[in-house]
Amino acid sequence: MKYTKTALLLLAFSLTAYAQKGKNAKKTQTREEFVTELMGKMTIDEKISQLVQFTADGTVTGPKAGVNYIDEIKKGNVGSILNATGVKYTRELQKMNLDNSRLKIPLLFGYDVIHGYKTIFPISLGEAATWDTDAVALSARVAAEETAASGVHWTFAPMVDITRDPRWGRVSEGSGEDTYLGVQLAIARVKGFQGTNLNDLNTILACTKHFAAYGAAEAGRDYNTVDMSERVLRETYLPPFQATVDAGVATFMTSFNEIAGVPATANKFLLRDVLKGEWGFDGFVVTDYTAINELIPHGVAKDSVHAGELALKAGVDMDMVGAVYLKFLKKSLQEGNVTEAQINDACRRILNAKYDLGLFEDPYRYSDDKREKQTIYKKEYLDAALHVANESMVLLKNENSVLPLNKNQKVAFVGPLVSDEWNIIGSWAATGDRYGYATSVEEGIMEVANKKNVSFDKGVEILKDDRSMIAKAVESARNADVIVAVMGEFENMTGEAASRSSIDLPGIQKEFLAELKKLNKPIVLVLLNGRPLTLEWENENMDAILEAWYPGTRGGAAIAQTLYGINNPSGKLPMTFPRNVGQVPIYYNHKNTGRPYLGPTDPEQKYKSRYTDVDNSPLYPFGYGLSYTTFDYSNLKLSSNQINFNNTLKISVEVSNTGNYDGEEVVQLYIKDKVGTVTRPVKELKGFKKVALKKGEKKTVEFEISSNDLRFYNIDMDFVAEPGDFEVFVGGSSATETKDKFVLVR
Ligand code: NOJ
Repeated sequence: MKYTKTALLLLAFSLTAYAQKGKNAKKTQTREEFVTELMGKMTIDEKISQLVQFTADGTVTGPKAGVNYIDEIKKGNVGSILNATGVKYTRELQKMNLDNSRLKIPLLFGYDVIHGYKTIFPISLGEAATWDTDAVALSARVAAEETAASGVHWTFAPMVDITRDPRWGRVSEGSGEDTYLGVQLAIARVKGFQGTNLNDLNTILACTKHFAAYGAAEAGRDYNTVDMSERVLRETYLPPFQATVDAGVATFMTSFNEIAGVPATANKFLLRDVLKGEWGFDGFVVTDYTAINELIPHGVAKDSVHAGELALKAGVDMDMVGAVYLKFLKKSLQEGNVTEAQINDACRRILNAKYDLGLFEDPYRYSDDKREKQTIYKKEYLDAALHVANESMVLLKNENSVLPLNKNQKVAFVGPLVSDEWNIIGSWAATGDRYGYATSVEEGIMEVANKKNVSFDKGVEILKDDRSMIAKAVESARNADVIVAVMGEFENMTGEAASRSSIDLPGIQKEFLAELKKLNKPIVLVLLNGRPLTLEWENENMDAILEAWYPGTRGGAAIAQTLYGINNPSGKLPMTFPRNVGQVPIYYNHKNTGRPYLGPTDPEQKYKSRYTDVDNSPLYPFGYGLSYTTFDYSNLKLSSNQINFNNTLKISVEVSNTGNYDGEEVVQLYIKDKVGTVTRPVKELKGFKKVALKKGEKKTVEFEISSNDLRFYNIDMDFVAEPGDFEVFVGGSSATETKDKFVLVR
């Protein structure tokens, strides 16, 4: 079933209707009065302990820390625990803490809930491919419901890093390469996680990460150096972070990387000046995992004492796993290297968050076994996950309309991921169950196809050079009308510490495809992966390609529904797919250069900004994605060819469904600022709308922009729009050439 917009809203409403208001223990006190009174009673050791976070041993999300968290809780040394989940376990730890806390200050439990807690939605990059803020908010809302019901108060999401390098494994965790899309989805996620009131029992604290510019790691190698101009930082990388502050995000996480020579975790400019100063962020900042300790190998701290001082002074409030604050901050205070005011400020921010969640009223309010049981894997959550997975499918190629399949065709499903229940939910899948729970492609096919007409064979593994299964799979394929190969990356080839120098389909999968190709039958390639891959050969040789990302718990059902036309794919790429890895970094909103290459018809072929061995263009551009139907754009109209700084420009375009199926199209709006005091990108996304069009239907889609949307950091680093000529483009991908122009005047 496909949700209508209204049904979606209703579902979201029914979810929030579970909200239970907490009763304020001391109704007469404001948060400030309560926390001030509490802090008045706290010793310096008790204050420092609030700044300390340790990991439980439930999930491993970083190197071994060598700390016994149970002992530390018993000593009253801990403010927060990560990686402990479930009502039973968190309740046990909370009790242990309260039994040993003189002032009964509750623990805060944090966890990486990135694309679902139990019910897993598509990986974040897949969710970004929906270009549907409602769908993304819905995913975060469901995640919050399940997380909060399982004793956990805080997710380390959204990850809002702009990513232009598909070698970096963590592109799977973000919203892709574009700042505007990233901003919209970051806001949707914060709202989904935090709801409207953190005191509601079905909300959790969100955490915007990784601050900042982690996605620009040199050569796509995780944790690597970042350097960029302040202009690029502010214009491209920071807006999604700022947008979450404006949306009320409760916490922030620092990143591992250095930026312009200063590690983010010791970066006063980022944390105190920009985040807490300019943006007025009043939540708290946690480091990434042992990031304070890492200031030593970075080479800015001579020892742990020094590292802790740099971090606190820069504006870090909570030390994740590193134990530096716990061990050394008091000493630094005594030696006069940090101030009590700095410790107080950090402590207050953390206590504020605990207060907002209602933990002082009742530290066990998230610890209800019955609610946990009733909440996880609810039918409507699984339906929502299927809906979002369907929306995330991107059709990259569909020669001769091979897709959708029909039930009368004999189809050979092959490939290492065809019956897989492990990889389909992707990496960073929280407590999501894999074997026995996740719907594999095979199971999804059995839900919709004629069982007599389908066969399933693995053929090859993703990573092993084992050719022993190929012959049998080829035999099945020989008897079929169509071959569907389900292939991709192993889930742990994406995510943290999973950079790749080659982004080809790994192992001998391509070799197997070449064998299948010899049968001269139409071949559909379904991809499960967490990053743009290099698919030139596949694009040449396959008849259809469906990018399915890692689509989550109901992912196999979404793939099956898409292959058989129950779902018409409407996803669009949130990241450019290069032709080869040598083109990386490649992104649509690049600069023009002084010697732009105009392609094969350019009269000057040599002294141009180009490669000699590959075209400059990507294989599939940002914003690209096909449908089983076709859309036609016509009648682009501007309300005027001139705007000033006080009025707005209305842009309208007619979009018609000219094919044979009902479908949805993401209508995209780009602008180009033709001349600036500094150079401007060749195109910039400024709006998008996902519209449903019945077969034969035509709709007028409207956008509105003002001079505010045309602002950038000019030659003086002022954030302003400059009068002059602009072009406006509308279409179904960033490659659109449907355009008009206008002038901005004073
Ligand atoms: C390290 C990762 O970089 C971060 O994203 C995550 O939230 C923390 N570990 C906690 O697991």
